[in-house]
Amino acid sequence: MLDAIIGSMPNPSQPNPSQTASNRASSSQPKSSQVVLPRIARERLDRLQARTARIGVIGLGYVGLPLSLLLSEAGFKVTGFDIDAKKVDDLEAGRSYIFRIAAAEIEGARQKGFSATTDFARLSDQDAIILCVPTPLTAHHEPDLSFVENTAKAAAPWIREGQLVVLESTTYPGTTEELLIPLLEAGNPHGLKAQAKGAAAESGVFYVAFSPEREDPGNVTVARRDIPKVVGGHEAIATELAATLYEGIFTRAVRVSSTRVAEMTKLLENIYRCVNIALVNELKLLSLRMGVDIWEVIDAAATKPFGFQPFYPGPGLGGHCIPIDPFYLSWKAREFDFNTRFIELAGEVNEAMPAHVAQSVAQALNRHGKAMNAARILMLGMAYKKDIDDLRESPSLTVIELLREQGAEVLYNDPYFPAVGRGRHYNLNMRSTPLTDLAQYDCVLIMTDHTEYDYRAIVDQSRLVVDTRNATKGIASEKIVRC
Ligand SMILES: NC(=O)c1ccc[n+]([C@@H]2O[C@H](COP(=O)([O-])OP(=O)(O)OC[C@H]3O[C@@H](n4cnc5c(N)ncnc54)[C@H](O)[C@@H]3O)[C@@H](O)[C@H]2O)c1
Repeated sequence: MLDAIIGSMPNPSQPNPSQTASNRASSSQPKSSQVVLPRIARERLDRLQARTARIGVIGLGYVGLPLSLLLSEAGFKVTGFDIDAKKVDDLEAGRSYIFRIAAAEIEGARQKGFSATTDFARLSDQDAIILCVPTPLTAHHEPDLSFVENTAKAAAPWIREGQLVVLESTTYPGTTEELLIPLLEAGNPHGLKAQAKGAAAESGVFYVAFSPEREDPGNVTVARRDIPKVVGGHEAIATELAATLYEGIFTRAVRVSSTRVAEMTKLLENIYRCVNIALVNELKLLSLRMGVDIWEVIDAAATKPFGFQPFYPGPGLGGHCIPIDPFYLSWKAREFDFNTRFIELAGEVNEAMPAHVAQSVAQALNRHGKAMNAARILMLGMAYKKDIDDLRESPSLTVIELLREQGAEVLYNDPYFPAVGRGRHYNLNMRSTPLTDLAQYDCVLIMTDHTEYDYRAIVDQSRLVVDTRNATKGIASEKIVRC
C-alpha cells in the first residue's frame, strides 16, 4: 500500500523548514514536487522523525565516533561497528581513543544505549546504516576503495527491507551507484535491490544515499551541529529518509538531486582548499625571494570585505582529506579523457613544500656555520595542523625523513603525541622529547603551531628557530628564519 506522499527537493539555498515539531509533521503533506512513500519507507521515516530509529555506524574513527555520539545524544539508539577489536573494547569499557573526546562522553552515550561491536549480524536490527570507513590513496596515488568494498561485502548479507544505507566516506562521483549499490545487491541473500529512480516499490528494496562529512578537526568556532549536511539519495525517497535522519542532529540538511552531486560537492570543497593553499604556498616562495612577508600580505588582503578568503601557507598538506581527495577526482576524470590540471598543479606545488622546509633548515644551519650532517634538530609538532591529535599524511613525517637522509639527528615534541610508532607510510618509533634545554639543539623547527607552545620562550631559549607557520609572528629576533 502506498500510504504517504512527501514533498521533496526543496530549494537547497533555503534553510530546511523541518526543524520544529510542527514543521516535521507537515513534511509528510503533499507539496508541489511530490514523492510517493511506500509503507516500508513511511515506517522508517516516522521512526527517524521520532528519533526512535536504531542507527548503525560502521567505522568508529575520527568521523564515525563523533557522529555516533551526536546521534546518541539526540536520542537515537546507536550501535557502532568496527573491524578494529581494540577500538570496540575501548568503547565498551567507556574509554576514548580520540584526544578531543572525553571518556565521560562515551560513558554518557553508553548510558543512552550506545554500544560497539565487531559483529556485523547486528546490522539487521538497524533502521539506518552509515558508512564512515577510510578512503585513502594507493602507493600510486589512485583511489583505494578497498575499505568501502570490504565494508559493503561484510554488510550486504545483513541488509533488510526498507533499511537506509548512507555512505559518508569521501570519494569520486559515481562510487555510491557504481560500487556500493552493486556490492550490497550482489551480497544480499534476500535478493533485495536498492530502490531505483521512478515508481516507489512496496517491497524488496532498501534505500541508499551519500552524505559527505564536513568536520573541521580543531575548529572550535562552528558547532558541529551548525555545519549544514549535504544529502543526495539514489532516488527521492532515500534523499528524504537520509535528510530526515540528519535533521535529527544537524541544524540543516541540504538536499541535492543525486548521490553524484553530493559526492562531487565534497570534492569541490576540498579541491577549492587544496588549490588555494597551493596558490599561497607558491606566492610564499616568491615572497621569500622578494623579501616580502606573505603572512602580512594575506592579513592585509583579508580586510577586503568581499571576494577574498584567506588561506595560509605551510610546510605541506596533511590530514585525511586535502592531500588525498582531489586525486579521487583526477583519477575518475581520466575515464572521461579529462585532465584536471588545477588539481595536478596544486598537488605538485603542495607536495614540494616539505622539501622546501628541509632546504630552508639546511640553509639556516649553514648560515650558522653548521652542516645538516650530524645537526641536532628538535621538531615542534607532529600533527598535521594545530591543536589536533591526527598525524595522517602530516608533512612532519616527510620532513623527518628528508632531514635524516641528510644526516641530521631529529627529535620531536608534540603534546598530542607522547610517542609515534608505525603507520601506513612510516615507522618512526620515537617518543616526544621534553621542551627543556633548547640551547642543546642546533635548530628548533616549528612544523605545527599548537596553541599551548610559548613561542617567545622557545625563541629566547633556542639558538636557531625555523618557523614554517608564522607562529613567531610579532617576535623580532635574528634567530628566527621564516620559511
Ligand atoms: N577525519 C576527518 O576530519 C574527515 C573529514 C571529512 C571526511 N572524512 C572522510 O571520512 C572517512 C572516514 O575518515 P576517518 O578520518 O574517520 O577515518 P579513520 O581511519 O579515523 O576511521 C575509520 C574507521 O573505519 C574502520 N574500518 C576500516 N575498515 C572497516 C570495515 N571493513 N568495517 C568496519 N570498520 C572498518 C577502521 O578500523 C577505523 O576505525 C574518509 O573517507 C575520510 O576521507 C574525514
